[in-house]
Amino acid sequence: MAKVVTGTDRRLIEAGFPCHQVGAETQRERGASSALPPLYFLHVWWARRPLTPSRAAILASLLPAGTDPDWFLRQLGIEKVQAMVNGEPWTLDEKMAGRVSFDHEGAEFLVVDDMVLRALENEQARRLSNLKMIATLKEKNPSLAKDYVLNRWEKENRVLVAQSIRIGQRLPVVRSPGDPYWAKQRIEWENASGIRTKEDKYGYPRAYTQAQCVEVPTDQQLTIFDPTAGGGSIPFEALRLGHKVMANDLNPVAAVILYATLDYPLRFGPGLVNDIEHWGRKLRDRLVPKISDLFPESPLPEDEGDILKKRVENCLETDSSSFDKEELDAFLYCRQVTCPHCGGEAPLLNTCWLSKEGEKWGVRIVPDGRSRDGTVRFEPYRLIGDRGPQGEDPNFATVEGGVGLCIHCRQAISAEEIKAQARGESPLGRWKDRLYCLVAVRRQPKLDKNGQPQRYRSGAKAGEIKTEKVRFFRAPNERDLEALAEAERMLAEHWPEWEKQGLIPTESIPKGHKTVEPLRVGMTRWCDMFTPRQLLGHLILVEELNRLEPEILKELGEERGRAVVTYLQFVIDKVIDYNSRQTLWEYTRGIVKGNFGRHDFSPKWTFGEMIFTGPNSGAAWALSQVIDAYAGIAELVKPLHERLGGSPPPVTIRCGTAAHTGLPDSSVDLICMDPPYYNNVQYAELSDYFYVWQRRTLQDLYPGIFRRRLTNKTDESVANPVRAGSVGEADRIYECLAREIFAESRRVLKDEGLMTVMFTHKSQEAWEKLTKSLIENGWEITSSFPVESESAHSLRIMGYAAAASSIFLTCRKRVENQDTPATWLGFGGTGVAQRIREAVREGLEEFSVLRLNPVDEMVACYGRALQVLSENWPVMDGDEPVSPIRAMNEASAVVAQYQVNRMTQGRLKVDDLNPEAAMAVTLYGIFGLAEFPYDEALSLSRSLNIRLESKAAGYRIEGRMIGVNDEQGGRRGRPKAGEEVGYFAPWCAGGQNCAWPGRRSAVRSGSKNR
Ligand SMILES: C[S@@+](CC[C@H](N)C(=O)[O-])C[C@H]1O[C@@H](n2cnc3c(N)ncnc32)[C@H](O)[C@@H]1O
Repeated sequence: MAKVVTGTDRRLIEAGFPCHQVGAETQRERGASSALPPLYFLHVWWARRPLTPSRAAILASLLPAGTDPDWFLRQLGIEKVQAMVNGEPWTLDEKMAGRVSFDHEGAEFLVVDDMVLRALENEQARRLSNLKMIATLKEKNPSLAKDYVLNRWEKENRVLVAQSIRIGQRLPVVRSPGDPYWAKQRIEWENASGIRTKEDKYGYPRAYTQAQCVEVPTDQQLTIFDPTAGGGSIPFEALRLGHKVMANDLNPVAAVILYATLDYPLRFGPGLVNDIEHWGRKLRDRLVPKISDLFPESPLPEDEGDILKKRVENCLETDSSSFDKEELDAFLYCRQVTCPHCGGEAPLLNTCWLSKEGEKWGVRIVPDGRSRDGTVRFEPYRLIGDRGPQGEDPNFATVEGGVGLCIHCRQAISAEEIKAQARGESPLGRWKDRLYCLVAVRRQPKLDKNGQPQRYRSGAKAGEIKTEKVRFFRAPNERDLEALAEAERMLAEHWPEWEKQGLIPTESIPKGHKTVEPLRVGMTRWCDMFTPRQLLGHLILVEELNRLEPEILKELGEERGRAVVTYLQFVIDKVIDYNSRQTLWEYTRGIVKGNFGRHDFSPKWTFGEMIFTGPNSGAAWALSQVIDAYAGIAELVKPLHERLGGSPPPVTIRCGTAAHTGLPDSSVDLICMDPPYYNNVQYAELSDYFYVWQRRTLQDLYPGIFRRRLTNKTDESVANPVRAGSVGEADRIYECLAREIFAESRRVLKDEGLMTVMFTHKSQEAWEKLTKSLIENGWEITSSFPVESESAHSLRIMGYAAAASSIFLTCRKRVENQDTPATWLGFGGTGVAQRIREAVREGLEEFSVLRLNPVDEMVACYGRALQVLSENWPVMDGDEPVSPIRAMNEASAVVAQYQVNRMTQGRLKVDDLNPEAAMAVTLYGIFGLAEFPYDEALSLSRSLNIRLESKAAGYRIEGRMIGVNDEQGGRRGRPKAGEEVGYFAPWCAGGQNCAWPGRRSAVRSGSKNR
């Protein structure tokens, strides 16, 4: 829904924005982690925006309403190339599309040759096979005759009559918009029906790879500003759309990422890859000799040797000894405490699984049998079925829910004791990192069907035996442990000298919302995040990069040199990310996962260590990752780089608060931003992990931005209750900073300019803060559209009732008028409340075709309600000004009615249900069985005119009240014997769930007499 903007200046984002198509393509972009845009692989930044919706938001904010939506989609890269075969469109794959030519009038065509003919025949065969399958399905299940997806798919498979096509013929080619929403429907249909076709449902590569670098004449370039640019997706697309860009972020780590994403690839183009590679190798070559002895390889363990011998025993001329060698891949550690009961070694493993990928492996924890001060050793094993060779269960764990289990005396080790040992505050000493397994690879000959080794027939390796890799796990041996001790000794030896140089990040970790976690387990300085050998490797890298820097700058010049040093620091950052006590051995996939799979520093029971040498070198991997990311980004902006021909790129990067930008008044045409989402991500706290390292290599190259010891948290626009001292104060600070940012944005934007804000948060509280700051600072919301942006598989949204959509809120400067304030209720349904209800109803109708998940639907309705409120601002209810929360509550009431109506197929209204049932049904409609925050229940209850009261005991259903069980209160008022089990009131402590009937006391709920 869009407000009618006066004159002809209405924009596409305010009317007719194809949010369902943009959403479907966005989900595709985020769907497969391996196919994410290269920006993601350059450096960690949290909550990076996908490229397609960024481009869509910018473009639709600039284009007039009424722009041809097909043309718009094609500008986003959502475009199919189709050859016309006897009037039927044939969607060309990338290979075929690459063969398309132009005639002298610019018309495109495809010349039929042998290859095209073969492709056409394959297409014909594919269509016939699909038609056959569709016919069979319909035959088996006649109700499918009316199935929309099946019928549309059938139409798309119409026969091409390829036989009539001759070699040399020219097939006309057309470019048409893709239909990602249809592709999504097809995928969902296949998932639901269990039928999997391998065909490409989209018919074009991911849109961001096809989106063009637009050429805009200099005098027509607009200025686009992203005040909270983070990892830079929005300004990246603004540049590709041909405009002048200003990108700002408070955080220095983000600012450096912005240089590496927006400036250097445009300035230096793909050619910089060679420099990064050249100097990256030098850096690696300086590291390896200093550290290689610390990663000794060993002969194969007996078991592996036996397997190998057996494999080659019948092979002629093949000797197993030539394969008797391991290649190290990773080291796995667990935390080990001392058992307070028997004094034995108590390793804490939250699972004994080592790998579920390929061959399944587990590890056995073997105690020495002593009743006091016992020790343990580890024995990895291959699983047979779902058990170990001696019947071991790999699901066995020695720590669960923070409580340990001693493997010797089988007594529990309390969470308090574990934490005390982690911090070194227990009389039993400090916990330690125990190396419990090594991950390694061996090679073995590939055998043919006669059991003889296969050999290369030609090429440089002609005659050599082909080999294959076998991954295995082994227990650490003496040499491994000696290497660890040697690393510790080396670190201690170098420590004074490195500390003098200021190389070691000994800065204290400040207490914060996320940093309390490492502090709780005794990691008080940033350098404590690493084992001695990990830290040693990182410090050598930093020292060597600092040594190389003058050479790089001398050889490449200041600007190019600065870029190369930055990317090399990114290599180090990648190593730091994947080589710390915060990493995770992901046994389901058999990989070490970096620190930030989650946006926090939650301590890990087990973690992985990288190898710095050999074929599986982590440093080499990190270099290749950064090179690939740079090459990918440079490729996406290559035409721009070529056009610039050495001139500086049209981008200004600034590191400072968005609340005071120093930009001239009314100097910006469009603001497109993705502000921090309340308390979702604590960027500054998390980024200190990298900042402390970057500061040691980049400080001179980026004067001014690395002055602070740690990143600026005071000006960060996030709600951080730990830093603020309370939730209330955190809210106040967030609101105040958000207000300042929106006031500053209003100042720098031209009067006719738009501000499009993307917001992904489901909580009303976050919405309240955001929209209050917007509306109270002179902004009017002129449209709101939901765009599904999160992949449904995202770790943060699985199993939790989270928003998967972003809402695009478009705002204009409100022209303050002198009229009397609007009234909330008005006469005869003319009030703002009524208009909100109508707008939300309209919205629900509009959204129904988008099939949003209910949380997104609710959030999208907030957008509609707030739009009406902001259009009528200020709104009064009697003498009281109406706050955004009331507008949202009004929206919730309409959604509640809609949910009940939907679930009961129109049989019931909210008013037909008692309060408990009304709340339960509505919340179920919105969140399903997933958890939800108490605040959501509270808001909904207000909109349904129901009171939530703390009732630990003595609960009876009466009036429009529902009891919330506060467990603590419950413990104080001990229940009688028969009531020991179950919650008394239906809402559990924290309000996160509605108690299942079985968990509720029948007595208290009044269904059984006392
Ligand atoms: C949601 S993220 C932006 C993500 C970005 N769109 C991307 O694609 O990576 C919000 C950003 O706001 C920044 N930020 C927080 N407070 C700020 C402030 N006062 N001024 C400027 N930037 C701020 C954070 O550092 C963070 O990078």
